[in-house]
Amino acid sequence: MIVPANSFIATSEAVGRNRLKVVFADIQSDYTIDPQSVKARISSKTSAIIPVHLYGHPCDMDAIMELAASYGLRVVEDCAQAHGAMYDGQKVGTFGDAGTFSFYPGKNLGAFGDGGAIITNNASLVERCRMMANHGRFGPRDHLLEGRNSRLDGLQAAILNVKLSYLDGWIEQRQRIASIYNSHLDPKRYALPVVSDRVRHVWHLYVIRHPQRDKLMHYLRDKGVACGIHYPIALPKLAAYAEHRSSCTRFVACQQDVSLLSLPIGEHLEGDAMAYMLEALQHFEA
Ligand SMILES: Cc1ncc(COP(=O)(O)O)c(C=O)c1O
Repeated sequence: MIVPANSFIATSEAVGRNRLKVVFADIQSDYTIDPQSVKARISSKTSAIIPVHLYGHPCDMDAIMELAASYGLRVVEDCAQAHGAMYDGQKVGTFGDAGTFSFYPGKNLGAFGDGGAIITNNASLVERCRMMANHGRFGPRDHLLEGRNSRLDGLQAAILNVKLSYLDGWIEQRQRIASIYNSHLDPKRYALPVVSDRVRHVWHLYVIRHPQRDKLMHYLRDKGVACGIHYPIALPKLAAYAEHRSSCTRFVACQQDVSLLSLPIGEHLEGDAMAYMLEALQHFEA
């Protein structure tokens, strides 16, 4: 299964835990999986592609679906960071065979504990997923397979149900914050996010690049600005994937990881906090 080299390990972990082989593909300038790199990595053993709508930016789904159709591959969209994101006006998660969502508390739509969902319009897949999530239960007594406990508990579902009605407003607030960053940060000093004009970006993360990323991060943290790195080490460079490292050294993803920095973004951010951060970023001396 082909997965992008820049994602959270959960993406590739899902492949390995099912005893399938992980194959990494490189990313493009918007940080999502590069269809050209996917094409170059397809072999007779390839069964599926997992595009990750990373940071809330949808992947190039036209190109991915075209590759899937020509090579007979499945597509499972990782929408963990992209609730409500759209490509050509269509919601992510509805292009491939299935879409997976995370409701981890930090996500754009987060529960008060862990949770997640799979969406698909394939009825037999729905049945199988429900069975898997409920210890393989089949009917009132029998179990068709060994599943797991992956049920969304009622309390989390109730919380998500309420939060869902706020999601669009929160996304708009994230979009406003992203456009403030875009218009106030100097693109000569900071590599700003590249956004395709075919997408509705939901800005789970606002990621910039800077050659002195660590210095910038400590400078901001010292000023009380919380920032993070997504992700500090590209997947093929993780110890868990040591055998992949040599085949991915030329990947953009494997070179860019040292310069990535996620600036604060969220529906909670007020004008004063934004002004404070922008001023700090303007005065940073590399
Ligand atoms: C891109 C991506 N995929 C998958 C996951 C896994 O989600 P969960 O932790 O809810 O299983 C995450 C969560 O952090 C993620 O960011």
